[in-house]
Amino acid sequence: MKSVILALPGNEQLAAGLAAKLQAEVGRMTVRRFPDGESYVRIETPVDGRNVVLACGLHNPDSKIPALLFAASTARELGAARVGLVAPYLAYMRQDKRFNEGESITSVHFAKLISRYIDWLIAVDPHLHRRTSLDDIYSVPSIVVHAAPLLAQWIRANVDSPVLIGPDSESEQWVSEVASGANAPWLVLEKIRRGDRDVSVSIPDTAALRGRTPVLVDDIISTARTMMAASRHLSGLGIAQPVCVGVHAVFAGDAHAELLAAGAGRIVTANTIPHPSNAIDVTPVIADALSGPRTPFSTGNG
Ligand code: R5P
Repeated sequence: MKSVILALPGNEQLAAGLAAKLQAEVGRMTVRRFPDGESYVRIETPVDGRNVVLACGLHNPDSKIPALLFAASTARELGAARVGLVAPYLAYMRQDKRFNEGESITSVHFAKLISRYIDWLIAVDPHLHRRTSLDDIYSVPSIVVHAAPLLAQWIRANVDSPVLIGPDSESEQWVSEVASGANAPWLVLEKIRRGDRDVSVSIPDTAALRGRTPVLVDDIISTARTMMAASRHLSGLGIAQPVCVGVHAVFAGDAHAELLAAGAGRIVTANTIPHPSNAIDVTPVIADALSGPRTPFSTGNG
């Protein structure tokens, strides 16, 4: 029996792309709001005995989580053999520590909640900052897809003589991987974050930038304060406008326009979050990761 891929609102293209690559069926599901703001969910395609994949990127998660959980538990109730979640952007990965007394470590609580409703999970470059693996917090099997080779491919094809600049020392390993794929030198910024929107940076080795196109690379562009600070710093040094390349295009509020105003040249992101800056398609690598012989999707063993 073919697997069924169900798209939560806004994930129709992802569902169609995955279904085509995985020889699965795109199922029919209605998700809408009642006038009082509650979520209505109806799965119209029969799922009894079938593997169900929920396609649901989780940016702006608080407006999406109830419908996702209702869809997952309804699929189980209707007899689905297994229910997996494809979340190209996995939310609630950033608060992974109690910085101030009484704070909720939401990454842990969210992982516990989601793990109760699904049998497996796949995500693109989840923000594993102080954790080494999703297994530390999710109790279901997971696959992490890396966008670094795709970013490298895009930079190689589109930027002349690039030099890659990562946001901070923690990003060294990731930036060096993208740089090696792009066949380019790299360096990382010295970054101080004092608050959500208060970031300053400095560039340790400006000599490395001369005669090259600076490419700021980051896993998440959220407030864009990191890239804005770096763009201003580069412009102060009289260096060419940077190309900004990110995986997850969060762009909170007016961050995209503000980054352009701060001196960024081109801004390019992967399509883990739908945004006009998307130029790097992750759907094929997600499908590849699910097509392997021993994935929770293909074996039913996860
Ligand atoms: C930090 O650890 C991340 O890699 C990014 O540098 C950060 O999330 C970017 O945030 P913002 O766009 O708000 O400066």
